Amino acid sequence: MRILFIGDVVSSPGRDMVQQYLPQLKQKYRPNVTIINGENAAGGKGITEKIYRHFLEWGAQAITLGNHTWHHKDIFEFIDEAKYLVRPANFPDGNPGVGIVYLQVNAMEVAVISLQGRTFLPSIDCPFRKADELVGEAQKRTPFIFVDFHAEATSEKQAMGWYLDGRVSAVVGTHTHVQTADERLLAKGTAYITDVGMTGPYDGILGVEQEPVLKKFLTELPARFEVVKDGRNQLNGVMIDLDSKTGKATSIKRILINDDHPYFS
Ligand SMILES: [Fe+2]
Repeated sequence: MRILFIGDVVSSPGRDMVQQYLPQLKQKYRPNVTIINGENAAGGKGITEKIYRHFLEWGAQAITLGNHTWHHKDIFEFIDEAKYLVRPANFPDGNPGVGIVYLQVNAMEVAVISLQGRTFLPSIDCPFRKADELVGEAQKRTPFIFVDFHAEATSEKQAMGWYLDGRVSAVVGTHTHVQTADERLLAKGTAYITDVGMTGPYDGILGVEQEPVLKKFLTELPARFEVVKDGRNQLNGVMIDLDSKTGKATSIKRILINDDHPYFS
C-alpha cells in the first residue's frame, strides 16, 4: 500500500502546483491513495466546495483540513455532503463534518484521520485522547491508518508520533509550512515526519508576501498578510509505503519540488 500526501496547499499558486505535478507524481510513483492538506487552499485560509471538487478531479481521494477549516462560510453549506473532507477530529462536539474518513482501495480500507494540536493554537479537545478513540475504532476495520497532525509545536508533533507508534501506519505533521528532514520509521513501525511542508509560493514567508511580515516584525504595527500571487512556486509532500498485511510502514520518502530541487520525471 502506497500513500502520497501533499502538504498544505496555499491558494492559487499551490493549486496550480497540484494540478501541474500531481498527474506526473501519480504516474511516477503509482500511489494507491493520494491525500492533500487543503486547509490553506482558498486565498490562504480554508477551502471552498469548488476547490475541494478540483482536488478530487485532479486525483486526490481525501482532503484534510486544520485551524482555518471554518474560514469561508461556504464550508458550512457543503461539509456534511463532502464525503472525503476530513476536519480535525478534536474540534468540540457540535462542529459539523467528520474527523475520520475510510477510503476503499480494492478490497481494503484506509482510514484517514485529522487531528489538531493545542500548543500555540486554540484550546480544543485533547488530540491524544481523541486519537485513542478514533484509532481504536479504525483498528477494528483496517490496519491502514493515516494521521495528519496539524500542529504548531515540534514537541507536540513528536509526542503524537511516539504516542501512536505501532498503532497507526503514519503520523505526518502539517501547519508550519517548512518541510523538516526528520522523516523516519519509529520503533514500532509508524512512519513519521514533523512537517511535510507547504505547496505554494516559494519566495514568500510561509506563503505570504515578505513586506507586511517584515513590517510587522520591525514595527509591531497591525499588518494585512496577502498570499504571494506571482513568482516561483514549490510542492512539498511525502510518499509512504505500508506492509500490505500489517499496515506498518516500510518506508517514508520526502518529495520536494522547487527551483533548487527541480523535478525529474
Ligand atoms: Fe494551519
